[in-house]
Formats: sequence, C-alpha cells, structure tokens
Amino acid sequence: MDFSRYSVAGATFEGATVLVRVDFNVPVQEGRVTDATRIERALPTIEKLLNDGAVVVLMSHRGRPKKRDEALSMRPVAKYLSERLQMPVTLIDDIESEEAAEQVRQAQAPAVFLLENLRFYPGEKKGDASFACTLARYGTHYINDAFGTAHRAHASTAVVAECFPGRCYLGLLMLNEVRNLYDALYRDLRPFVAIVGGAKVSDKLRVLENLIPRVD
Ligand code: 3PG
Repeated sequence: MDFSRYSVAGATFEGATVLVRVDFNVPVQEGRVTDATRIERALPTIEKLLNDGAVVVLMSHRGRPKKRDEALSMRPVAKYLSERLQMPVTLIDDIESEEAAEQVRQAQAPAVFLLENLRFYPGEKKGDASFACTLARYGTHYINDAFGTAHRAHASTAVVAECFPGRCYLGLLMLNEVRNLYDALYRDLRPFVAIVGGAKVSDKLRVLENLIPRVD
C-alpha cells in the first residue's frame, strides 16, 4: 500500500503555520526530561518543517491530569526542545487565549511554539469539537506525528483534522510506524514473532488478542 501521498515528506510548507500533534508524554524529574526518546523521534518532522520555512506549533498531552497541574506542565519539554534545536521554543500557557493565537499568526519563520498540556482542558479527551476549533486557530495545516497516541480519538488527534480539509498529513514518525505495522500485519512475512512491552497493560489486551492468531 502506498502511504506516501499522505506524507509530510512529499509536501512543502514554506510560509505555512503547521500545527503538529506529537506524543511528548515524557518522564520529568526536578524539572528536567529524564527520557527524551519520544521528543527525539519527532525531530525529523520538526526539522523538515523548519527547513521548509514554516512556523511550527507543537501540541501534546503529558500524564493523565483531570485539570491544570503544574507538575505536568510542558515547560520542561519546551526547555529540552529549545536546547536541542538551539532556538527559542515559546510555551503557550493559555491555549484558549486569542492573544496567543494572534501571536502565533504574526510569527515569522523559523519559529517554534509548544502548547501547554492538552489534558489541562476537559475538551481534549472528550473529543470536543469546540476545543478542536480552538486548537485549529493555531495552524494553516495539520500533521499527526503522535504514533504513541494514535489509538485515542481525542480533539487533537482526530477531531481537529476535520478543520483542515486537504491540509492534513502524516508525520515522518507516524508514516514509518504505519509502514512497519502494515508490513508486519499484511505482507505475510514469516516467521512472525511479536515482542510486546509497555506499562499500560489494559490498553494492550486488545492488541494482543489481535496479534495472537497472526504470529508464529
Ligand atoms: C502513552 O504513553 O501510552 C501515550 O502517550 C498515551 O497516553 P495515555 O495512555 O494516557 O492516553
């Protein structure tokens, strides 16, 4: 199957403001990111957009807060990313603020913004259309590169895409993972061994049920 027509790699984003859903659900201790693997995996998409001449607006959840909780702020992630990209990464503390959306609209490339933890807003997990519209004010194009969160139909992962008809793409990380999954599940390559890890067992039971009849 050819997934490349959905890929960010085949498009150019000069002059665009690109809203990118990433999975930056990373561990933090004493204000520092202690495992940056997920951030590192998203860098190829971010760097491609910056090289194209886009303004990049990143958004993610962290943890499972029910409301605003400073311990789960994205601030340490913004700090890590800023050091890694060697450029300022501006944290948008109040996602609903019109001034913040205007600040992003006025930004000149190259620039990187990071929205505060999406789960500080109840509309995110509910898949609320009005919260999706709030998010959509931050971009002219939308990319989903949050493979680790792709199983959630939340405002930022699914609903917001409807605000960008013909302007939605798969990020490079997502594309790579989808290709790998497609090869594993549909190309009948043998022998097929699955190694499954991770902390949240309840989320994996259905994956395991799906895999068991397929693997050797
Ligand atoms: C994960 O770490 O599994 C993903 O970021 C999804 O997080 P969630 O299970 O809290 O939705």
